[in-house]
Amino acid sequence: MLITGGAGFIGSRLAIALAARHRVHVFDNFAAQAHPAPATTRIALARAGVRVITGDMRDPAALGAAMADTRPDVILHLAAETGTGQSFSQPAHYVQVNVLGTAHLAEVVRRHAPGLPRLVLASTRAVYGEGACIDESGRRAQAVPRRSDDLALGRFGLQGRDGQPLAAVPTDADWPVAPASIYAATKLMQEHLLRQAFWGSATQVGILRLQNVYGPGQSLDNPYTGVLSIFCRQILEGRNLAIFEDGQITRDFVMIDDVVRAFVMMAETPVMPQQTLDIGSGQGITLLDVARRLLLCLGASRDRLRVTGAYRPGDIRHAVADISRATAQLGWTPRVPLDAGLMALARWSGRQLRHPAARASA
Ligand code: UD1
Repeated sequence: MLITGGAGFIGSRLAIALAARHRVHVFDNFAAQAHPAPATTRIALARAGVRVITGDMRDPAALGAAMADTRPDVILHLAAETGTGQSFSQPAHYVQVNVLGTAHLAEVVRRHAPGLPRLVLASTRAVYGEGACIDESGRRAQAVPRRSDDLALGRFGLQGRDGQPLAAVPTDADWPVAPASIYAATKLMQEHLLRQAFWGSATQVGILRLQNVYGPGQSLDNPYTGVLSIFCRQILEGRNLAIFEDGQITRDFVMIDDVVRAFVMMAETPVMPQQTLDIGSGQGITLLDVARRLLLCLGASRDRLRVTGAYRPGDIRHAVADISRATAQLGWTPRVPLDAGLMALARWSGRQLRHPAARASA
Protein backbone atom coordinates (compact mmCIF):
# COMPACT_ATOMS: atom_id res chain seq x y z
CA MET A 1 0.00 0.00 0.00
CA LEU A 2 1.16 3.52 -0.75
CA ILE A 3 0.03 6.52 1.29
CA THR A 4 0.67 9.98 -0.16
CA GLY A 5 0.95 12.50 2.63
CA GLY A 6 1.67 9.50 4.83
CA ALA A 7 3.84 11.47 7.25
CA GLY A 8 1.09 13.95 8.08
CA PHE A 9 -1.37 14.09 10.95
CA ILE A 10 -3.83 11.58 9.50
CA GLY A 11 -1.45 9.81 7.12
CA SER A 12 1.17 8.85 9.70
CA ARG A 13 -1.40 7.28 12.02
CA LEU A 14 -2.99 5.50 9.10
CA ALA A 15 0.38 4.17 7.94
CA ILE A 16 1.19 2.82 11.39
CA ALA A 17 -2.25 1.19 11.71
CA LEU A 18 -2.00 -0.49 8.29
CA ALA A 19 1.61 -1.58 8.79
CA ALA A 20 0.45 -4.10 11.40
CA ARG A 21 -1.02 -6.17 8.52
CA HIS A 22 0.41 -4.82 5.23
CA ARG A 23 3.58 -3.67 3.53
CA VAL A 24 3.21 0.11 3.69
CA HIS A 25 5.10 2.84 1.86
CA VAL A 26 4.72 6.52 2.51
CA PHE A 27 5.33 9.31 -0.02
CA ASP A 28 5.64 12.71 1.65
CA ASN A 29 7.57 15.93 1.14
CA PHE A 30 7.79 16.77 4.87
CA ALA A 31 6.79 20.38 4.13
CA ALA A 32 7.88 22.48 7.10
CA GLN A 33 4.47 24.00 7.90
CA ALA A 34 2.83 20.62 8.52
CA HIS A 35 5.90 18.83 9.93
CA PRO A 36 7.38 20.57 12.94
CA ALA A 37 9.27 17.42 14.03
CA PRO A 38 10.09 15.39 10.91
CA ALA A 39 12.75 13.31 12.66
CA THR A 40 10.27 12.14 15.30
CA THR A 41 7.77 11.16 12.61
CA ARG A 42 10.41 9.27 10.65
CA ILE A 43 11.39 7.31 13.77
CA ALA A 44 7.75 6.42 14.57
CA LEU A 45 7.13 5.26 10.99
CA ALA A 46 10.38 3.26 10.85
CA ARG A 47 9.56 1.56 14.16
CA ALA A 48 6.24 0.44 12.70
CA GLY A 49 8.01 -0.95 9.63
CA VAL A 50 6.77 1.74 7.25
CA ARG A 51 9.14 2.69 4.44
CA VAL A 52 9.34 6.42 3.79
CA ILE A 53 9.97 7.91 0.36
CA THR A 54 10.65 11.63 0.50
CA GLY A 55 9.15 13.31 -2.53
CA ASP A 56 6.75 15.97 -3.70
CA MET A 57 3.43 15.56 -5.51
CA ARG A 58 4.51 18.38 -7.84
CA ASP A 59 7.44 16.26 -9.05
CA PRO A 60 6.10 13.60 -11.45
CA ALA A 61 9.52 11.94 -11.80
CA ALA A 62 9.76 11.35 -8.03
CA LEU A 63 6.17 10.12 -7.89
CA GLY A 64 6.71 7.85 -10.90
CA ALA A 65 9.84 6.37 -9.35
CA ALA A 66 7.95 5.70 -6.11
CA MET A 67 5.15 4.01 -8.03
CA ALA A 68 7.50 1.85 -10.10
CA ASP A 69 9.42 0.92 -6.97
CA THR A 70 6.49 0.08 -4.69
CA ARG A 71 3.89 -1.36 -7.12
CA PRO A 72 1.03 -0.78 -4.64
CA ASP A 73 -2.25 -2.69 -4.58
CA VAL A 74 -3.95 0.22 -2.79
CA ILE A 75 -3.14 3.93 -2.91
CA LEU A 76 -4.47 6.22 -0.20
CA HIS A 77 -4.12 9.79 -1.45
CA LEU A 78 -3.86 12.17 1.50
CA ALA A 79 -1.13 14.59 0.37
CA ALA A 80 -2.66 18.07 0.18
CA GLU A 81 -2.56 21.63 1.40
CA THR A 82 -5.47 21.94 3.84
CA GLY A 83 -5.98 25.53 5.04
CA THR A 84 -9.26 27.23 4.10
CA GLY A 85 -8.06 30.78 4.88
CA GLN A 86 -4.50 30.26 3.67
CA SER A 87 -5.69 29.08 0.26
CA PHE A 88 -6.88 32.61 -0.61
CA SER A 89 -3.37 34.02 -0.33
CA GLN A 90 -1.71 31.10 -2.15
CA PRO A 91 -4.10 29.99 -4.91
CA ALA A 92 -1.40 28.90 -7.35
CA HIS A 93 0.35 26.87 -4.69
CA TYR A 94 -2.91 25.15 -3.68
CA VAL A 95 -3.64 24.34 -7.31
CA GLN A 96 -0.13 23.01 -7.87
CA VAL A 97 -0.10 20.73 -4.83
CA ASN A 98 -3.73 19.61 -4.76
CA VAL A 99 -4.80 19.67 -8.40
CA LEU A 100 -1.60 19.21 -10.39
CA GLY A 101 -0.30 16.75 -7.79
CA THR A 102 -3.43 14.62 -8.22
CA ALA A 103 -3.13 14.81 -12.01
CA HIS A 104 0.45 13.56 -11.67
CA LEU A 105 -0.79 10.72 -9.50
CA ALA A 106 -3.33 9.69 -12.15
CA GLU A 107 -0.65 9.74 -14.84
CA VAL A 108 1.96 7.74 -12.96
CA VAL A 109 -0.60 5.13 -11.94
CA ARG A 110 -1.52 4.65 -15.60
CA ARG A 111 2.14 4.39 -16.57
CA HIS A 112 3.59 2.35 -13.71
CA ALA A 113 0.66 0.59 -12.00
CA PRO A 114 -1.99 0.22 -14.73
CA GLY A 115 -3.94 -2.56 -13.00
CA LEU A 116 -4.06 -0.82 -9.62
CA PRO A 117 -7.18 -2.24 -7.96
CA ARG A 118 -8.02 0.53 -5.51
CA LEU A 119 -7.40 4.24 -4.92
CA VAL A 120 -8.90 6.14 -1.99
CA LEU A 121 -9.00 9.94 -1.84
CA ALA A 122 -9.15 11.97 1.37
CA SER A 123 -11.57 14.69 0.35
CA THR A 124 -13.48 17.17 2.46
CA ARG A 125 -16.97 18.35 3.33
CA ALA A 126 -15.69 21.80 2.26
CA VAL A 127 -16.79 20.86 -1.29
CA TYR A 128 -20.44 21.44 -0.24
CA GLY A 129 -19.90 25.09 0.69
CA GLU A 130 -22.73 25.89 3.10
CA GLY A 131 -24.25 22.44 2.58
CA ALA A 132 -27.79 21.20 3.11
CA CYS A 133 -30.35 23.66 4.49
CA ILE A 134 -34.09 23.91 5.10
CA ASP A 135 -36.33 26.97 5.00
CA GLU A 136 -38.88 27.94 7.63
CA SER A 137 -41.44 25.51 6.27
CA GLY A 138 -38.95 22.63 6.38
CA ARG A 139 -38.33 22.51 2.62
CA ARG A 140 -34.82 21.75 1.44
CA ALA A 141 -33.12 24.84 0.02
CA GLN A 142 -29.69 25.88 -1.16
CA ALA A 143 -27.98 28.75 0.66
CA VAL A 144 -26.29 31.42 -1.43
CA PRO A 145 -22.63 32.13 -0.59
CA ARG A 146 -22.37 34.62 2.27
CA ARG A 147 -21.41 38.12 1.12
CA SER A 148 -18.50 40.00 2.65
CA ASP A 149 -20.73 43.10 3.06
CA ASP A 150 -23.17 41.11 5.22
CA LEU A 151 -20.39 39.55 7.28
CA ALA A 152 -18.82 42.98 7.87
CA LEU A 153 -22.18 44.15 9.26
CA GLY A 154 -22.42 41.15 11.57
CA ARG A 155 -25.08 39.42 9.47
CA PHE A 156 -23.68 35.91 9.68
CA GLY A 157 -26.74 33.75 9.06
CA LEU A 158 -27.57 31.73 5.95
CA GLN A 159 -30.01 32.91 3.31
CA GLY A 160 -31.68 31.40 0.31
CA ARG A 161 -31.80 32.94 -3.17
CA ASP A 162 -34.76 35.16 -2.25
CA GLY A 163 -33.21 36.29 1.02
CA GLN A 164 -35.25 33.88 3.16
CA PRO A 165 -33.47 32.70 6.33
CA LEU A 166 -32.26 29.10 6.20
CA ALA A 167 -31.21 26.57 8.84
CA ALA A 168 -28.45 24.02 8.22
CA VAL A 169 -29.17 20.29 8.43
CA PRO A 170 -26.78 17.30 8.15
CA THR A 171 -25.33 17.06 4.64
CA ASP A 172 -24.65 13.95 2.60
CA ALA A 173 -23.07 13.37 -0.79
CA ASP A 174 -26.39 13.65 -2.66
CA TRP A 175 -26.36 17.38 -1.88
CA PRO A 176 -24.95 19.52 -4.73
CA VAL A 177 -21.38 20.72 -4.39
CA ALA A 178 -20.68 24.47 -4.15
CA PRO A 179 -17.12 25.09 -2.90
CA ALA A 180 -16.71 28.45 -1.12
CA SER A 181 -12.91 28.63 -0.91
CA ILE A 182 -9.96 28.02 -3.18
CA TYR A 183 -8.99 25.13 -0.94
CA ALA A 184 -12.45 23.58 -1.39
CA ALA A 185 -12.33 24.14 -5.15
CA THR A 186 -9.00 22.30 -5.40
CA LYS A 187 -10.31 19.39 -3.33
CA LEU A 188 -13.38 19.09 -5.55
CA MET A 189 -11.10 19.09 -8.58
CA GLN A 190 -9.18 16.17 -7.04
CA GLU A 191 -12.42 14.20 -6.85
CA HIS A 192 -13.31 14.96 -10.48
CA LEU A 193 -9.81 14.18 -11.76
CA LEU A 194 -9.66 10.78 -10.10
CA ARG A 195 -13.20 9.75 -11.04
CA GLN A 196 -12.59 10.73 -14.65
CA ALA A 197 -9.02 9.42 -14.95
CA PHE A 198 -10.05 5.92 -13.84
CA TRP A 199 -13.54 5.79 -15.32
CA GLY A 200 -14.12 2.39 -16.93
CA SER A 201 -10.70 1.11 -15.82
CA ALA A 202 -9.72 -1.66 -13.42
CA THR A 203 -8.99 0.93 -10.73
CA GLN A 204 -11.83 1.56 -8.30
CA VAL A 205 -11.92 5.02 -6.78
CA GLY A 206 -13.22 5.58 -3.25
CA ILE A 207 -13.80 9.04 -1.82
CA LEU A 208 -14.17 10.02 1.84
CA ARG A 209 -15.34 13.57 2.55
CA LEU A 210 -13.96 14.37 5.98
CA GLN A 211 -15.38 16.82 8.47
CA ASN A 212 -13.09 18.60 10.96
CA VAL A 213 -10.55 16.01 12.08
CA TYR A 214 -8.90 16.61 15.45
CA GLY A 215 -6.89 14.79 18.06
CA PRO A 216 -3.45 14.03 19.42
CA GLY A 217 -0.81 14.55 16.73
CA GLN A 218 -2.36 17.54 15.00
CA SER A 219 0.36 20.17 14.76
CA LEU A 220 0.44 22.72 17.56
CA ASP A 221 2.96 24.83 15.65
CA ASN A 222 1.10 25.41 12.40
CA PRO A 223 -0.95 28.64 12.46
CA TYR A 224 -3.18 27.19 9.71
CA THR A 225 -3.87 23.93 11.52
CA GLY A 226 -7.20 22.79 12.92
CA VAL A 227 -8.85 25.17 15.37
CA LEU A 228 -8.82 22.81 18.37
CA SER A 229 -5.02 22.46 18.23
CA ILE A 230 -4.70 26.23 17.91
CA PHE A 231 -6.98 26.66 20.93
CA CYS A 232 -4.99 24.12 22.99
CA ARG A 233 -1.77 25.95 22.35
CA GLN A 234 -3.32 29.32 23.18
CA ILE A 235 -4.86 28.03 26.42
CA LEU A 236 -1.62 26.40 27.53
CA GLU A 237 0.33 29.56 26.77
CA GLY A 238 -2.07 31.60 28.91
CA ARG A 239 -3.61 33.44 25.99
CA ASN A 240 -7.32 34.11 25.43
CA LEU A 241 -9.19 32.41 22.62
CA ALA A 242 -10.60 34.45 19.74
CA ILE A 243 -13.92 32.99 18.59
CA PHE A 244 -14.87 34.30 15.17
CA GLU A 245 -18.22 35.73 14.07
CA ASP A 246 -20.80 35.50 16.87
CA GLY A 247 -19.52 32.21 18.28
CA GLN A 248 -22.39 30.31 16.65
CA ILE A 249 -20.44 28.77 13.76
CA THR A 250 -20.92 25.01 14.04
CA ARG A 251 -18.55 22.24 13.11
CA ASP A 252 -18.65 18.46 13.22
CA PHE A 253 -15.45 17.43 15.00
CA VAL A 254 -14.40 13.85 14.30
CA MET A 255 -11.61 12.21 16.27
CA ILE A 256 -8.49 11.04 14.42
CA ASP A 257 -8.88 7.41 15.56
CA ASP A 258 -12.32 7.20 13.97
CA VAL A 259 -11.02 8.72 10.73
CA VAL A 260 -8.06 6.33 10.56
CA ARG A 261 -10.48 3.43 11.05
CA ALA A 262 -12.59 4.65 8.12
CA PHE A 263 -9.54 4.66 5.82
CA VAL A 264 -8.39 1.25 7.06
CA MET A 265 -11.85 -0.12 6.28
CA MET A 266 -11.75 1.40 2.77
CA ALA A 267 -8.35 -0.20 2.19
CA GLU A 268 -9.30 -3.63 3.52
CA THR A 269 -12.99 -4.18 2.87
CA PRO A 270 -13.54 -6.86 0.21
CA VAL A 271 -15.90 -4.64 -1.82
CA MET A 272 -15.08 -0.95 -1.56
CA PRO A 273 -18.04 1.45 -1.68
CA GLN A 274 -18.03 3.28 -5.01
CA GLN A 275 -20.20 6.15 -3.82
CA THR A 276 -18.70 9.13 -2.03
CA LEU A 277 -18.98 8.76 1.75
CA ASP A 278 -19.22 11.42 4.47
CA ILE A 279 -17.07 10.90 7.54
CA GLY A 280 -17.85 12.90 10.66
CA SER A 281 -19.27 12.50 14.14
CA GLY A 282 -22.72 13.31 12.80
CA GLN A 283 -23.09 15.95 15.55
CA GLY A 284 -22.59 19.70 15.26
CA ILE A 285 -21.26 21.89 18.06
CA THR A 286 -20.79 25.66 18.13
CA LEU A 287 -17.26 27.03 18.30
CA LEU A 288 -18.21 28.83 21.51
CA ASP A 289 -19.35 25.61 23.15
CA VAL A 290 -16.36 23.53 22.05
CA ALA A 291 -13.95 26.27 23.17
CA ARG A 292 -15.55 26.24 26.64
CA ARG A 293 -15.27 22.46 26.86
CA LEU A 294 -11.59 22.62 25.92
CA LEU A 295 -10.93 25.31 28.55
CA LEU A 296 -12.56 22.98 31.08
CA CYS A 297 -10.41 20.01 29.95
CA LEU A 298 -7.28 22.10 30.46
CA GLY A 299 -8.40 23.43 33.85
CA ALA A 300 -8.67 27.02 32.60
CA SER A 301 -11.40 29.54 33.37
CA ARG A 302 -14.36 29.32 30.97
CA ASP A 303 -14.15 33.09 30.52
CA ARG A 304 -10.80 33.00 28.80
CA LEU A 305 -12.34 33.64 25.40
CA ARG A 306 -13.65 36.53 23.38
CA VAL A 307 -16.28 36.43 20.66
CA THR A 308 -14.67 38.84 18.22
CA GLY A 309 -17.14 39.34 15.39
CA ALA A 310 -14.20 38.88 12.99
CA TYR A 311 -14.78 36.61 10.02
CA ARG A 312 -12.59 34.60 7.69
CA PRO A 313 -13.07 34.59 3.92
CA GLY A 314 -14.36 31.24 2.72
CA ASP A 315 -15.54 30.13 6.15
CA ILE A 316 -18.79 28.28 6.01
CA ARG A 317 -21.32 28.77 8.77
CA HIS A 318 -22.45 25.28 9.70
CA ALA A 319 -21.04 21.84 9.01
CA VAL A 320 -22.59 18.55 10.12
CA ALA A 321 -22.29 15.26 8.28
CA ASP A 322 -25.04 12.83 7.49
CA ILE A 323 -23.00 9.66 8.00
CA SER A 324 -25.74 7.16 7.23
CA ARG A 325 -24.20 6.10 3.91
CA ALA A 326 -20.81 5.39 5.51
CA THR A 327 -22.59 3.23 8.07
CA ALA A 328 -24.73 1.40 5.51
CA GLN A 329 -22.08 0.85 2.83
CA LEU A 330 -18.84 0.63 4.81
CA GLY A 331 -20.13 -0.50 8.20
CA TRP A 332 -18.36 2.48 9.80
CA THR A 333 -19.62 4.51 12.74
CA PRO A 334 -17.66 6.92 14.92
CA ARG A 335 -16.80 5.55 18.37
CA VAL A 336 -15.04 8.36 20.26
CA PRO A 337 -17.38 10.80 22.04
CA LEU A 338 -16.34 14.46 21.75
CA ASP A 339 -15.55 14.90 25.44
CA ALA A 340 -13.21 11.88 25.45
CA GLY A 341 -11.50 13.10 22.28
CA LEU A 342 -11.08 16.62 23.66
CA MET A 343 -9.57 15.23 26.84
CA ALA A 344 -7.11 13.12 24.84
CA LEU A 345 -6.14 16.17 22.76
CA ALA A 346 -5.77 18.34 25.88
CA ARG A 347 -3.53 15.80 27.65
CA TRP A 348 -1.36 15.26 24.56
CA SER A 349 -1.03 19.02 23.95
CA GLY A 350 0.00 19.57 27.57
CA ARG A 351 2.74 16.95 27.27
CA GLN A 352 3.98 18.39 23.98
CA LEU A 353 4.22 21.94 25.26
CA ARG A 354 5.83 20.94 28.56
CA HIS A 355 8.49 18.91 26.73
CA PRO A 356 9.13 20.78 23.50
CA ALA A 357 12.24 18.70 22.77
CA ALA A 358 10.00 15.68 22.36
CA ARG A 359 7.51 17.56 20.17
CA ALA A 360 5.99 14.91 17.96
CA SER A 361 4.00 15.24 14.80
CA ALA A 362 3.32 11.52 14.88
C1 UD1 B 1 -11.14 22.22 8.38
C2 UD1 B 1 -9.83 21.68 7.83
C3 UD1 B 1 -9.98 21.35 6.38
C4 UD1 B 1 -11.15 20.40 6.22
C5 UD1 B 1 -12.41 21.05 6.77
C6 UD1 B 1 -13.61 20.11 6.69
C7 UD1 B 1 -7.80 22.47 8.89
C8 UD1 B 1 -6.72 23.48 8.88
N1 UD1 B 1 -8.77 22.64 8.00
O1 UD1 B 1 -11.45 23.50 7.79
O2 UD1 B 1 -8.79 20.76 5.90
O3 UD1 B 1 -11.31 20.12 4.87
O4 UD1 B 1 -12.20 21.34 8.14
O5 UD1 B 1 -14.71 20.73 7.27
O6 UD1 B 1 -7.80 21.54 9.67
N2 UD1 B 1 -11.83 29.67 14.23
C9 UD1 B 1 -12.00 30.53 15.29
N3 UD1 B 1 -10.92 31.03 15.92
C10 UD1 B 1 -9.65 30.73 15.54
C11 UD1 B 1 -9.46 29.84 14.46
C12 UD1 B 1 -10.59 29.33 13.83
O7 UD1 B 1 -13.15 30.84 15.67
O8 UD1 B 1 -8.70 31.23 16.18
C13 UD1 B 1 -13.01 29.11 13.56
C14 UD1 B 1 -12.99 29.29 12.05
O9 UD1 B 1 -13.55 30.52 11.69
C15 UD1 B 1 -13.86 28.12 11.59
C16 UD1 B 1 -13.64 27.06 12.66
O10 UD1 B 1 -12.99 27.69 13.73
O11 UD1 B 1 -15.19 28.48 11.56
C17 UD1 B 1 -12.82 25.90 12.17
O12 UD1 B 1 -11.66 26.41 11.54
P1 UD1 B 1 -10.48 25.45 11.01
O13 UD1 B 1 -10.04 24.54 12.08
O14 UD1 B 1 -9.46 26.32 10.38
O15 UD1 B 1 -11.21 24.51 9.98
P2 UD1 B 1 -12.11 24.64 8.69
O16 UD1 B 1 -11.93 25.90 7.93
O17 UD1 B 1 -13.48 24.27 9.14
